[in-house]
Amino acid sequence: MSKYNFDEIVDRKGTNAIKVDALEPRYGNPDLIPMWVADMDFKSPPCVTEAIIERAKHGIFGYTNAYQSYYDSIISWVNRQHDWDIKQEWISFIPGIVKGIAFAIDCFSTVDHKIIIQPPVYHPFRIIPTLHHRIVVDNPLKLNSGQYEMDIEGLKNLIDPTCKMLILCNPHNPGGRVWTRQELIDIAEICYDNDILVISDEIHSDLAFAPHKHIPFACVSEKAAQNSITFMAPSKTFNIAGIISSFSVIPNKEIREKFYAYLESSELESGHIFAYLATETVYNHGERWLTELKDYLWNNITFVDKYLKANIPQIKAMLPQASFLIWLDCRKLNLSQKELNFLFVNDAGLALNDGTMFGQGGEGYMRLNIGTPLSIIKKALENLKKAIDAKQIQY
Ligand SMILES: Cc1ncc(COP(=O)(O)O)c(C=O)c1O
Repeated sequence: MSKYNFDEIVDRKGTNAIKVDALEPRYGNPDLIPMWVADMDFKSPPCVTEAIIERAKHGIFGYTNAYQSYYDSIISWVNRQHDWDIKQEWISFIPGIVKGIAFAIDCFSTVDHKIIIQPPVYHPFRIIPTLHHRIVVDNPLKLNSGQYEMDIEGLKNLIDPTCKMLILCNPHNPGGRVWTRQELIDIAEICYDNDILVISDEIHSDLAFAPHKHIPFACVSEKAAQNSITFMAPSKTFNIAGIISSFSVIPNKEIREKFYAYLESSELESGHIFAYLATETVYNHGERWLTELKDYLWNNITFVDKYLKANIPQIKAMLPQASFLIWLDCRKLNLSQKELNFLFVNDAGLALNDGTMFGQGGEGYMRLNIGTPLSIIKKALENLKKAIDAKQIQY
């Protein structure tokens, strides 16, 4: 029997949640159904709310160090979820994964170095290096039977001595792929041999759907372990992105000392009371909630897939192997990207992410966030069907 109610509709308006309160400035309409920013509309596990309230009652919020039970909870979680034995000295708090990527870029590359990404991919992978005046090199993913694969030969061909870093989205956003061991081994081999540091962003890793199982990049080989920085967080898993509670894991001593000295030089490794507390609480007490969440998400995903097949066959869902984002292939609607956005926003009243923001390969796609009660998804799909029928779009 389920213990948690993911059907509950929680009004997020007026909480400064970007997903809801930025609809007006971003899309020009505050009443769109928000299915864009990658957080969920579910309440976080009750254990974390209770722990925060309990701590807040103390009334003093002075400087707080990371503490033993915080580290223990991370070590145990990563071991239980991902069969990866990590050591305490490998771990550091970071104030967000996107910021962590920026710090790594600053620390391990210089202006005009090349950074490899595999689009279509989470847009800060392109934006952050660009803002740091690095050259972003695309190794586009390949579509094979409706799923993305890495282009390993393409990667070999584009490498030159100015390539210093590869940012890996593991699992992948927006395609939802849980990469195979072989794909990760290939990346590890090529990058190690060419002195290209791998930044593995594993923020979506706890949300893999069986039979898919997330493989931490650093686990696949010694070359991977000795040439990588892994970023993880409880933020997507337990819907606590606003608490800012990410961390890095670095097995290699040299890379670790360099990166952690960089962080310490600006006190960037220094977290806050509620980050430590929330991380420890969800990792120690959130497992049952997560199991139920994944069942609920999977049900939402299959609902979307079936609905589209039956009612809007012009749009095809790429079934995610992890997380709550569905990459919608809308190319059969034969619309320009501008018309596609107009259809979703103005005709259907929906706020999704425009596929082109994820770079090469995003044309004709939209990204749908299904981390919301099923009743909202049903309403959104009905709106979409009506909008398409009204336009009598042929396929
Ligand atoms: C792949 C990926 N990395 C990082 C983030 C954001 O992480 P943070 O909030 O810790 O910067 C997201 C959020 O959508 C994401 O999808």
